[in-house]
Amino acid sequence: MSQAYKVIEHKYDVVVLGAGGAGLRATYGMAEQGLRTACITKVFPTRSHTVAAQGGIAASLGNMSKDTWQWHMYDTVKGADWLGDQDAIEYMCREAPKAVYELEHGGLPFSRTEEGYIYQRPFGGHMSNFGEKPVPRACAAADRTGHAMLHTMYQQALKYQAEFYVEYFALDLIMDSEGVCRGVLAWDLNSGTLHSFQAHMVILATGGFGRTYFSCTSAHICTGDGHGMVVRAGLPLQDMEFIQFHPTGVYGAGMLITEGVRGEGGYLTNSAGERFMERYAPNAKDLASRDVVSRAMTIEINEGRGVGPDKDHIHLHLEHLGAEVIEERLPGIAETSKIFASVDVTREPIPIIPTVHYCMGGIPTNYLGEVVRPTATDPEAIVPGLMAVGEAACVSVHGANRLGCNSLLDLVVFGRAAAIRCGELIKPNTPHKPLAENILEPLLQHFDHVRNAKGSISTSDLRLRMQRTLQKHAAVFRTESTLREGEQLIQECVKEFKNVSIKDRGMVWNSDLAECLELENLLACAEHLITCAANRTESRGAHAREDFSERDDENWMKHTMSWTREGRVPEITYRPVHTYTLTDEVQYIPPKKRVY
Ligand code: FUM
Repeated sequence: MSQAYKVIEHKYDVVVLGAGGAGLRATYGMAEQGLRTACITKVFPTRSHTVAAQGGIAASLGNMSKDTWQWHMYDTVKGADWLGDQDAIEYMCREAPKAVYELEHGGLPFSRTEEGYIYQRPFGGHMSNFGEKPVPRACAAADRTGHAMLHTMYQQALKYQAEFYVEYFALDLIMDSEGVCRGVLAWDLNSGTLHSFQAHMVILATGGFGRTYFSCTSAHICTGDGHGMVVRAGLPLQDMEFIQFHPTGVYGAGMLITEGVRGEGGYLTNSAGERFMERYAPNAKDLASRDVVSRAMTIEINEGRGVGPDKDHIHLHLEHLGAEVIEERLPGIAETSKIFASVDVTREPIPIIPTVHYCMGGIPTNYLGEVVRPTATDPEAIVPGLMAVGEAACVSVHGANRLGCNSLLDLVVFGRAAAIRCGELIKPNTPHKPLAENILEPLLQHFDHVRNAKGSISTSDLRLRMQRTLQKHAAVFRTESTLREGEQLIQECVKEFKNVSIKDRGMVWNSDLAECLELENLLACAEHLITCAANRTESRGAHAREDFSERDDENWMKHTMSWTREGRVPEITYRPVHTYTLTDEVQYIPPKKRVY
């Protein structure tokens, strides 16, 4: 096989896969320390999915009213429904103000208060004084915060002379016989050439796998590529059953309408015009955490109080905010609503529905970004040479449900943490150990096998089957029968992948092949997701079982680890939740009932 493909070799200190918020923060942090850094990305950096993040980045700056990182930590632990690792949550919330000021100094054009401070708005689940009332914690650049962040960090990466390989598709990790990651094999979509990148550290910043579902706010590039590579390398995934439904996706189109709308005073109504969130979350109301709001909306619809001719969605109002506030604070929302829902938000409500938005689970790591592969004796054992950051990773700061704006925060805090760790571990320009002679052989064989697939089902048909299955069988509410049936159907899709067909066998801009490789990654994610969901017999955060409606801390306060071994269905083990903090400045927050 190595004779059939010429592979162009590269050597770097560090290789980062992905150029979204986490990838760019890691990339420039490495380059800043003098590490020779390559960033390999499927799309041009500023087109990465972080560009779609709207409402803000969470940090307890206290610019609008008093706030503390300890309150932020409490809210995040509670939002995560006590599945988050508290050492990592402490680290993230404590580092948050520093991360935001760093972005500000890098040039991020934040919105401003009259006095010139960074503008902050309330977001779901972010409260003052350990759960008392909503606090403005989301630092915003109007409703285009992710866009501003990507541009700021890309400029930093260029300033420190990181090298970019744009429109390169990362195929597989190069793992040696001792389980050390030694680099990555990638395909240049533009020239059609194959490339091996050797590195002392590979950082997976490949984003989530929202595209396993039919309707999601995720970009089409969110295909779980890092997860697929990890599974094929025999490494586990963590907490894959926890999928966040954002309460406000545009009905029928899936586009995100930021929670910042409710942060600015927007509210939800049912067909009777009732502000129903007051019944479900008397204190936080429309600003309860996302899982709570999405469930309330689903109940309203299921009980016949949805709006529209089919009573199958909900209304989001911001007319009362007035054109001036909308223009200043929510210009992107006005535009999105016009284009995708034909709605003038100054006059009418937006039709919205809970839509898949974020993957809490992913590649297990510690708070330094190092990938974890638990062994029988060490639940924290790491995989040398491999890190993961951002939505691809499960640190786990979001546990069973992420709070809005903690995602942009996670990207920069842990992207930076990974860079700091690499600075400690790697001396710039250290020579690379030679790779074993045939180390690329199985990787090339795998690529060749997919490229020459001559079955009878198209990538798009099989993808649609998978997406419709998860949409129906792993939704906001779940039961044993829907999950088990879904598991069966996803297993059939996984088997059917052998029967997929690639029409174009060329190597240059072969989008048919690229989508097929993405589908293979998505199928791995879908299989792990549904298996883990069927396995967890309790309700926690975003995983709401109608047949097991309570949280069960005694049996289930533990992380699910799922492994694909020798092509069989995922096997499940567990890893303890970190019930300790990093420093003695804060105490462990024990579980209690979660009400808003
Ligand atoms: O609603 C939003 O603006 C989304 C933010 C987030 O997911 O953190």
